[in-house]
Amino acid sequence: MKKLILILTVLSIGITSCKKQTSSTSTTEDKEVNRCESIDATYATVEPIFKANCVKCHTLPRAADGIDLNSYETTSNLANSGKLACVLKGESCKAMPPMGKLSDQDLLNMICWIKGGAPK
Ligand code: HEC
Repeated sequence: MKKLILILTVLSIGITSCKKQTSSTSTTEDKEVNRCESIDATYATVEPIFKANCVKCHTLPRAADGIDLNSYETTSNLANSGKLACVLKGESCKAMPPMGKLSDQDLLNMICWIKGGAPK
């Protein structure tokens, strides 16, 4: 029993010290914010990305899930609701586009546009 307690103590110290290490280094989120400082993303930056990767399924009158990604209004609303970042990251939402992936550069432009409040 004593041995077990000792092992558990050592384990938990190990785990907490690991956590401290990761939180002192910058997170992906920080890196994105830093990289966005040099990117002035407006709708003109991201519109071609939507057109090339999303609009074939997401345009009226038969938009997938009722989501129209062919206009600034609907797209910026989606961005400001957090939903767009969620599908682009594909972690807690259904990943979009469903097949294939955006290039790193397109993804970064999208994320920076969202973080900047989806300006026109
Ligand atoms: C091949 C067709 C297709 C493409 C391309 C596509 N989507 Fe979708 N999308 C769908 C379908 C179908 C759904 C409905 C969700 C489902 O799969 O059940 C959907 C759902 C969504 C949703 C709602 C998800 C939710 O959880 O509410 C969002 C937001 C979205 N798509 C954004 C995008 C974006 C942004 C792109 C481009 C980067 C994209 N989609 C590309 C077919 C597509």
